[in-house]
Amino acid sequence: MSSTFQTAVVTGASRGFGRAIAAALVAKGAGVIGIARDEQELRAVRDELGEGFTAVVGDATDEALARDVIRTHRPGLLVLNAGATPHMAPVHEQSWETFSRNWDVDTRHVFGWTRAALREPLAPGSVVVAMSSGAALAGSPLSGGYASAKAAIRYIRGYAAEESERAGLDIRFVTLLPHLTPATGLGSVGVAGYAARQGVERDAFVEGLQPVLTPEQVAEAVVDVAADPGSAAEYRVSGAGLRPIG
Ligand SMILES: NC(=O)c1ccc[n+]([C@@H]2O[C@H](COP(=O)([O-])OP(=O)(O)OC[C@H]3O[C@@H](n4cnc5c(N)ncnc54)[C@H](OP(=O)(O)O)[C@@H]3O)[C@@H](O)[C@H]2O)c1
Repeated sequence: MSSTFQTAVVTGASRGFGRAIAAALVAKGAGVIGIARDEQELRAVRDELGEGFTAVVGDATDEALARDVIRTHRPGLLVLNAGATPHMAPVHEQSWETFSRNWDVDTRHVFGWTRAALREPLAPGSVVVAMSSGAALAGSPLSGGYASAKAAIRYIRGYAAEESERAGLDIRFVTLLPHLTPATGLGSVGVAGYAARQGVERDAFVEGLQPVLTPEQVAEAVVDVAADPGSAAEYRVSGAGLRPIG
C-alpha cells in the first residue's frame, strides 16, 4: 500500500461527500481520521466503517486542531472537504454574515490545514486534496460568497504547490471542483434554491443535472488523484467523471 493511503485525514467526514470519501479510503486499507462537529453523526460513521475510522469531534477551522492532528497521526493524505451550507438568497437579501459564511468555514479551514501541511511539514510524497466547486468557475448568484470562497481555495492550492516546490517538500496539492448534486444535504439546499428561482419543480431542475454526481464518484475521484503522482492540479468532477482543468 502506498504511504498516501496508510493514514488519511478527511474533514467533514460525517455526511455527504466526506463520509463517502472516508468509506472509500477505509476500503483501500487506510486508517482515516474523520473530523466534524456533530459527535453522533461521526459515531455513526465509526459504527459503519469500524476500526479503520477514528472520529475526531472538532471544528476544522481550528488551526491548533490541524497542527495537533498532523503531529499525532502523520497523515500522507489530507482531504479538505468540510463546508458550510450556504444561505440561499440573492445578494441584496444577504447580510455580510451570511454572504461570507463559506469564507469563514470552507476557505479558512483550507488555509489553516494547508499552512500546517507546509509548516510541519507533511512527509515527502504526501497529498493534499481540497474541495472547491464548479461554482468557482460559474458563479453562485444565490449563494452569496460561496463561489468566491471556493475560488480562493483554488488560489491557496496554487500558492501552496509553489511553496512546496520552492522548499523541495514534495507535497502534492490538488483541487477538485464538483458539479452541483442533489445527493447531499448541502447540494439539496442549492438545488431547491435554484429550482425555485427558475420557477421549475425540483425534479425538472435535477433532470438538467443528469448524469447526477454521486458521493461515491467524488470519493473515487479523491482516491484516483491521491494515487496518481502525475495528477493534474485541478479537476472538474461531474456525473460523467473527472476532467482536468487547464
Ligand atoms: N453537494 C454539492 O453539490 C457540492 C458541489 C460542489 C462542492 N461541494 C463541496 O463539497 C464539500 C462537501 O459537501 P457536501 O455536499 O458533502 O456537504 P454536507 O453533506 O453538508 O457535509 C458537510 C460536512 O462538513 C462538515 N462541517 C461543516 N462545517 C464544519 C466545521 N466548521 N468543522 C468541521 N466540519 C464541518 C459537516 O459536519 P458538521 O456539521 O457536523 O461539522 C459535514 O460532515 C463542501 O466543501 C462543499 O462546498 C459540494
